[in-house]
Formats: sequence, structure tokens, C-alpha cells
Amino acid sequence: MSCIRFEQVDKTFGGAVKALDGVDLTVADREFVAIVGASGCGKTTCLRLAAGFEAPTGGHVTVGGKAVTAPGPDRAVVFQQFALFPWKTVAQNIAFGLRNKGMPASERDARVAAAIGMIGLSAYADAYPHQLSGGMQQRVAIARAYVLEPEVLLMDEPFGALDAQTRVVMQEELVRLARKNPRTVLFITHGVEEAVYLADRVAVMTRRPGRIKEIVDVKVIREAERWEDHARIEDVMDLESFVHLRTHIWKSLREEKGGVGH
Ligand SMILES: Nc1ncnc2c1ncn2[C@@H]1O[C@H](COP(=O)(O)OP(=O)(O)OP(=O)(O)O)[C@@H](O)[C@H]1O
Ligand SMILES: [Mg+2]
Repeated sequence: MSCIRFEQVDKTFGGAVKALDGVDLTVADREFVAIVGASGCGKTTCLRLAAGFEAPTGGHVTVGGKAVTAPGPDRAVVFQQFALFPWKTVAQNIAFGLRNKGMPASERDARVAAAIGMIGLSAYADAYPHQLSGGMQQRVAIARAYVLEPEVLLMDEPFGALDAQTRVVMQEELVRLARKNPRTVLFITHGVEEAVYLADRVAVMTRRPGRIKEIVDVKVIREAERWEDHARIEDVMDLESFVHLRTHIWKSLREEKGGVGH
């Protein structure tokens, strides 16, 4: 069991900036929840609380029923700003967490090779981060988290820096992985379409101080309308049921922004 639970969570920085004000959200075991909201509403703060990099100033954050007090190997994080080890190669960066787990070298090498293949960087296994583009570096950061097969995956706009084609490949891959071998995922994005495509439920946040304004159940529609019959993301995004959900969430966000477009 590795559900993530926020109960009446407040977070104030430096006694002055109230980032979160009574966030209530549960990500069930093996559920994929996306959070959308305006810039500065507190999305990253939620993720950092679940990761154990910050402590709440009020309320409770638990993972698997235990209070989060520090980062742990059960939770892998992909940051908004990716952080690779500059002195390690692509393969060494991806292998890093597995090395810490004490996995036999042969299994580790096989997993790393598969992950590098998934992100389309087999030719760059021995390259260093400075030899890669920003999007390529971001793919390495994503592979480094996937390869650990953590119980809980915390992702903060992981595809933000990618070009449109690579983003689609990574989104389709994440859906494939998430449906085949579900993990408990908290995924932060600015992209409403991305949220609807990937998530079981989408949580819409208010402007700062952030709280959960609305939760939209996508999974029930996705299954009823058989989105999985469509292999390609653009075909899913054309479906009436998809457009309906997307428009609903857009409107909800626009209300928060006082009518200004996102
Ligand atoms: N360490 C910090 N010290 C002080 N204020 C902070 C800190 N971290 C975040 N904040 C403030 O908390 C609020 C929420 O920030 P957060 O990074 O969670 O927003 P966000 O929703 O992730 O925004 P974006 O979409 O731009 O990434 C902002 O007003 C920000 O300035
Ligand atoms: Mg953020």
C-alpha cells in the first residue's frame, strides 16, 4: 500500500508567503493523479512535501500511512529542473539509483540498457550531460526515475522542456508503463491535455494560496469510452469525451485566473 494523502495541509514560507491553505488530496495506491493550476499556486510545493524535501506548517502528509519526514527510496522524483550528475555518463546516471539498491551488475546493466532504449538514446549511453540537448537530458532524468520502479513516482512538469514530438513519445510511453505496471503517481503539469491523457484523476488547484478546487475523474470516462482502442495520442485527443473533459478543466482554471487565458 503506497497511497499519498494530504490532509488539511498548509505551507507558509518564511512566516509570510502562504503557498498552500488546507490542501486535501488522496492519491490511491497505484492511482495516477495529475495536478493542474496557475503558475505559483503551489504545485511544486505539494510535490516537495510528498517527497519529504519540505515539512508542512499545518496538517499531515502521509505515504503508505506513514508521516513523510524525509526523502526515501520508495519515492522517485523527476524535477521541473532536471539534475543529472555532470561527471557521470548517461548510462552511469541512470544506473546510479540501482547501484544504491545493491542489484547484481548483470541485471542492472540490462535494465539500464532497456531504459536508454526507451528514451531513444542508445547511441549516447557513454555521453556526458553537457554533450546532450536540454530535452535529451530531461529524458535521462525520466529514465533514471523509471528504472528504479519505485512504489511512488513524483513528477514535476517532466515533459516541459521537450520538443513536441519527443513529448508525445514520452507521454505515450508513460501511459503504456502506467497501465501495464501501475504505480502511485503524482504528476504536475501546466498542460490540461497532458493531464487528461495521462491521469486517472485530475486535481485542479486554486490560485495561491493553493487548495484543491475540483477533482475530475477521467478514468471512468476513459474506460467507458474505450480510449485504449486508440493507439495514438492525437486520436484520443480528438474524441468527444476527451474534448469535453479538457474544456471543463480549462474553464475551471480560467475562473481562477479571472478570465485571463492560460
Ligand atoms: N523556498 C521558498 N521560499 C519562499 N517562497 C517559496 C518557496 N518555494 C515556493 N515559494 C512560494 O510559494 C508559492 C508556490 O510556489 P510553487 O513553486 O509551489 O508554485 P508552482 O505552482 O509550482 O508554480 P509553477 O507552475 O510556476 O512551477 C510561490 O508564491 C512561491 O514564490
Ligand atoms: Mg512548479
